[in-house]
Amino acid sequence: MCGIVGYVGFRNATDVLMEGLKRLEYRGYDSAGVAVKVGGRLEVIKKAGKLSVLGDVLKDEKLPGHFGIGHTRWATHGAPNDPNAHPHTTEDGQIAVIHNGIIENYLPLKEGLLARGHRFSSETDSEVLAHLVEEKYRGDLALAVRQVLQEVYGAYALVVAHQDHEEIVVARTVSPLVIGLGEGENFVASDVPALLPYTRRVIFLHDGDMAVVSREGVRVTDLQGNEVRREVVEVDWSLEAAEKGGYPHYMLKEIYEQPRVLENTLGGRLSEARAGVELDLRVDPTRFERVHIVACGTAYYAAWVGKYLIEGLARVPVEIDVASEYRYRDPVVDERTLAIAISQSGETIDTLEALREAKRKGAGTLGVINAKGSSITREVDDTLYIHAGPEIGVASTKAYMAMLGAMAMLAVWMGRARGTLPEAEARTFLGELRKMPRLVEQTLEKRQEIAHIAEKYHQAADYLFLGRHIQAPTAYEGALKLKEISYIHAEAYPAGEMKHGPIALIDERLPVVVLTTESPIYEKTLSNIQEVRARGGRVIAVATEGDLEVRRFAQDVIYVPRTHYLLSPMVSVVPLQLLAYETAVLLGRDVDQPRNLAKSVTVE
Ligand code: F6R
Repeated sequence: MCGIVGYVGFRNATDVLMEGLKRLEYRGYDSAGVAVKVGGRLEVIKKAGKLSVLGDVLKDEKLPGHFGIGHTRWATHGAPNDPNAHPHTTEDGQIAVIHNGIIENYLPLKEGLLARGHRFSSETDSEVLAHLVEEKYRGDLALAVRQVLQEVYGAYALVVAHQDHEEIVVARTVSPLVIGLGEGENFVASDVPALLPYTRRVIFLHDGDMAVVSREGVRVTDLQGNEVRREVVEVDWSLEAAEKGGYPHYMLKEIYEQPRVLENTLGGRLSEARAGVELDLRVDPTRFERVHIVACGTAYYAAWVGKYLIEGLARVPVEIDVASEYRYRDPVVDERTLAIAISQSGETIDTLEALREAKRKGAGTLGVINAKGSSITREVDDTLYIHAGPEIGVASTKAYMAMLGAMAMLAVWMGRARGTLPEAEARTFLGELRKMPRLVEQTLEKRQEIAHIAEKYHQAADYLFLGRHIQAPTAYEGALKLKEISYIHAEAYPAGEMKHGPIALIDERLPVVVLTTESPIYEKTLSNIQEVRARGGRVIAVATEGDLEVRRFAQDVIYVPRTHYLLSPMVSVVPLQLLAYETAVLLGRDVDQPRNLAKSVTVE
């Protein structure tokens, strides 16, 4: 959720921290702070507001030093103001603490500390950690942190600095932490992009790991202090890939990256000779009688598309759940269930917990994940990486495209293994899938047209999105994108449901986006368009190139290339992403960092 950076070495620590935080600002952005050792003391500066507010202060108040920690926050406990920003320090300022996550038993801990005379300067759960470390500290910082962690429960990525030790003590449970390895310097961060300007050699900490990071090296232990060995991973993301590459916003850059992303997702996995896909998975697709897919937000809509794909091609019953519901509904699961978690970040706590629930009940588990080495990938039996590269824009676009590509492959892989997808049908489907990067590229050429439509409707107070069958999730994803970044209220419905209530909303002020691409139920959706028109609604249709019929009923038509109807969400979501983007820009919204949102949601 929030962003963490730590540095110990020979460079100017403030510069390294600010540079790293800039790359993590997408993780949370309501306040930020740094603690840097200057002349034997930890100097702390923290400010409510975006990182640039802190940056302005640091321009005047230089903090020269080679050891420090920094944070960008997304508030959970306590308002986003200066005192609640991290780092949190002890009263004497000797110890500084940064914490992502939630300490669930912080209230009784805080009461105990208050009774013992500690004074608090913030309302956060995190500050208790600084005071607890102070109580335990007898000259060995790592030992003190270890002892504190025996007393707290909850989720944490914890970073602790003491003015008398040029080392950063870190620990993690649930919230991610990664260590970057340099020569005569080392780094800590909550996510890889912060490290890319300095190193590509990283260690992903596992749940229950602690580490002491100094200039000379890194020592990883468990919470009992026993040394543990963790693999050093070479990350292959280029720095440029994590930056805007000339586009005004990350979101637009990521929308335009989709053809290339899809090539990466599919790359080397579609087999011409065997009319199948090679996924290099250990999971046996013939062992399962049912599939459960859990995910949140945009990833949930990918799950929904996945359901139609898998049921259509592999004839296995698929249940999909919003992850936060799944874990509490006591789902019926056994060892004949394959539980699939879809997640860009691999860190979404609801998804992780839903997956754990399925696993506890005996399911086999598979992650469909973007971020390498993320928490979910370490808990599943197997991972299908979607290879979308780093996604920085808070509103997910290219990861969604890659998830759809991955689900299409998964469906073919299951269908071929289970004997439900005949070779000829598989060939046709894969032929269409192979063409998809090009078709998405063609759809991107519609940007001007879509900008024009956005211009026409950007003052609307509400939008309605409709779609049927495999295009129902596309409607929901279109509505989610629009509300996330433009703050226009948007609702989505399966088109056939419209007459059961939402039809009452339709009047001449309501733009209605209808996904009406070619499919076996095209005619039904066309009827829905006519129902909207008959009530004065304004229809923006997303239709297949060459469809002249739809022109008779829709004020605006965005044509997308013809493809297999089960793949139509891939070409159809692009105009909806662009519509949301252009509308948000026209309304002057903060496209990459919409209010109240964070990129990776590691609280329940
Ligand atoms: C929407 C969006 C969110 C995420 C959701 C799950 O644009 O980005 O709805 O899709 O928070 O995130 P991941 O995929 O990281 O689990």
